[in-house]
This record gives sequence, structure tokens and C-alpha cells, in this order.
Amino acid sequence: MKTLIIYDSFFGNTEQVARAIGSAVGAPQDVTVVKVADANLEQLQGVQVLLVGSPTRAFRPSPAITQFLAGIPAGALQSVNAAAFDTRSLIDDTVPGFLRLMIKWFGWAAPKIAKRLAAKGASLALTPEGFAVRGSEGPLVEGELERAAAWARGLLQSA
Ligand SMILES: Cc1cc2nc3c(=O)[nH]c(=O)nc-3n(C[C@H](O)[C@H](O)[C@H](O)COP(=O)(O)O)c2cc1C
Repeated sequence: MKTLIIYDSFFGNTEQVARAIGSAVGAPQDVTVVKVADANLEQLQGVQVLLVGSPTRAFRPSPAITQFLAGIPAGALQSVNAAAFDTRSLIDDTVPGFLRLMIKWFGWAAPKIAKRLAAKGASLALTPEGFAVRGSEGPLVEGELERAAAWARGLLQSA
């Protein structure tokens, strides 16, 4: 299955998740992992599975991911199985209560990406998922790369 994974990343954590997912979902010749800055609409040609991932920034995807999604023509993802993921700050005891409430209220990048993928015609093959980093710059919380790979393998079951 021709699979494209488009991600954005400022500190490298979402890139690590994207690459772990790439290794989990198919043979290297079938899977392309590309940073959104280097992605273009032609790369969507013939793609059967599309994954889009972003760091959560101010409760939403990065501007580059939002812009890329906005540029996909209406209906262009009609025969595509899609899924969305993000990275986000770990919520632990050091996060003040008001901030926790805001985070729960305003949410994360992945559900917003999923909504936009569906709006372009894609079938959502997996529930949007987030992977936690420590602070803003990471590293990823232990076990998150394995959890990302397991999450993405769900695509193989739904194919
Ligand atoms: C400007 C800025 C805004 C952020 N906003 C959020 C947020 O709203 N919710 C959240 O959970 N994490 C937030 N974070 C933490 C990022 O999600 C974290 O930096 C990101 O997952 C790291 O991924 P990357 O290494 O791929 O850039 C923010 C970080 C920065 C620097």
C-alpha cells in the first residue's frame, strides 16, 4: 500500500514519531516520510494511506500543517485512508490546574488534523492519537515511540 506520512517538527520529537510510524506500517519502498516544508500536492498522487502529524502548538497544528491541509483540493482524498497524530506536552503534577483545564478544553492538534482530512474526503482509519513529550522540547516520554508504532499498525488491520 502506497503510504505517505507528512509531519512537522520543531525540536525533532514529532519527526521521531513519524519515522517510527513509517517503519511500522510498511516496507521502505511503499512508505514515504516527508517534512511538511518539503511536501507537495503531487506526492499525494496514488497514495492509499496518508498520515499527518504535528506538534501541538497553542492547542492546534503548526501553521505549516494547517496551510498544507488547506491547500488540498476538495474531494482529493476520497479514496484515501487517513489518520492524524500529534505530539503534546506531558500533563503531570507540575502543570498548574488552570492550564490543565485549558488544555482539556481547547484540545490538541490531532483531532483538528483529522477533521480537516475528513473534510477533504478521506476515510479516517484510526482514532486521532497524541504522544507525550517532556516540557516543550522533549524528549518523548519513554515508550511513546513503541505506542506510536502499535497505534499505526491498526491501519494494517483496517486495510
Ligand atoms: C509555542 C509552543 C506552544 C505549545 N502549545 C502547546 C499546546 O497547546 N498543548 C500542548 O500539549 N503542548 C504544547 N506545546 C508543546 C509542544 O507540543 C511540543 O513542543 C512538541 O510536541 C514538540 O514536538 P517537536 O519536537 O516535533 O517540535 C507547545 C510548545 C511551544 C514551543
